[in-house]
Order: sequence, then structure tokens, then C-alpha cells
Amino acid sequence: MNFQQIETKDLMMNPFQKISSEWMLISAKKEDKINTMTASWGMVGHLWGKDVVQVFIRPQRYTKEFVDNSDTFTISFFDGNYKKELGYLGSKSGRDEDKIANVNFHPVEINDAVTFEEASLAIVCKKAYIDEFKEENFLNEADIEKWYPTKDYHTCYIGEIVNVYANK
Ligand SMILES: Cc1cc2nc3c(=O)[nH]c(=O)nc-3n(C[C@H](O)[C@H](O)[C@H](O)COP(=O)(O)O)c2cc1C
Repeated sequence: MNFQQIETKDLMMNPFQKISSEWMLISAKKEDKINTMTASWGMVGHLWGKDVVQVFIRPQRYTKEFVDNSDTFTISFFDGNYKKELGYLGSKSGRDEDKIANVNFHPVEINDAVTFEEASLAIVCKKAYIDEFKEENFLNEADIEKWYPTKDYHTCYIGEIVNVYANK
């Protein structure tokens, strides 16, 4: 493991492919604990003169407690060898088991945030803005019917990118 800091402008990634098809982990610390979950919805871009990411977390996720309790979170990307592990981390809850140990991932602290030795890329984000999707703001009823039959609207977190680390 050798995480080296790189600039956002040097990132060679297609966010559409990376996030939606290869997935990522959203991770955060709460006191001496950490938790993580798989996500395939998210954005990277530029806002308020900053490079930012946006992630979407449903209220029932244990990871939400960690992101809510921390000033920072990370998004971590992996090469294709870890798809099975990401599937596991996206189907089990850290409330019920030590799922990180169960996939044999090794947490690493960076910038008082957490990623994993197994990650190929880690982006450390400082929370900048939080909001929840509101039913009355959806313009397409079909999206509510398809994604929110139980009205568990995502909370959206915009995080300012503070550091990007490539695992070389
Ligand atoms: C491919 C994939 C993508 C996912 N994307 C999201 C997402 O963007 N937002 C979300 O809230 N949950 C998403 N999930 C579900 C969480 O990862 C899952 O519920 C996880 O078990 C939550 O773990 P936790 O309770 O330990 O936080 C996704 C799951 C998978 C398998």
C-alpha cells in the first residue's frame, strides 16, 4: 500500500463508468469506530469554486450515522478484483456484523478519515452541504414510484474534495 497524493485535475477517471458500474465505498469515522457502504449513485464536479463530490445516503443506512457524526467522509474506488467484496459491503449492515473484517479489508487512516489498503483511489471530502430529497420537488412521479415506494428519500451530501490519493 502506498497512497500518494494527486491533484483532482490529474484524475484519469470516467465518473459515469467508475461510479455506476464499478461502484465505490462511502466511509466515515465515528469516535473510535468506522463504517462503510457501497454506493453506485454519486457525482463529482465543481461548485462554489471548489472541486466537490455528492453522495446520496438513505436514512436507514448505518453509514449515515457515521457520515452525520463526522466532518469528513471518503469515497474509495477499487479495481475489478474486489467486486464481490463491494457487493457484500453493499448488502450487509455494519450494525449486524463486522463486515469490513468479513471481507478482509484493511482500514487506513488518511487526513483523519478512513479508506482501505485495498482501494486504488481514495477521495477525502469535507462536508459542505446536506439536504434531503423532498417528495414535492420531484418533477417525474415515475422516479418516486420506482425508487421510493417506502418514502425513504436519500439525504444528499456535498463534500469539498480536500485530498485525492492514488494507491500506487
Ligand atoms: C451496487 C450498490 C450500490 C448502492 N448504492 C447505494 C447508494 O448510492 N446509496 C445508498 O443509500 N445505498 C446504496 N446501496 C445500499 C447500501 O450499500 C447497503 O444498504 C449497505 O448494506 C448499507 O450498509 P450499512 O448499514 O452498514 O451502512 C448500494 C448497494 C449496492 C450493492
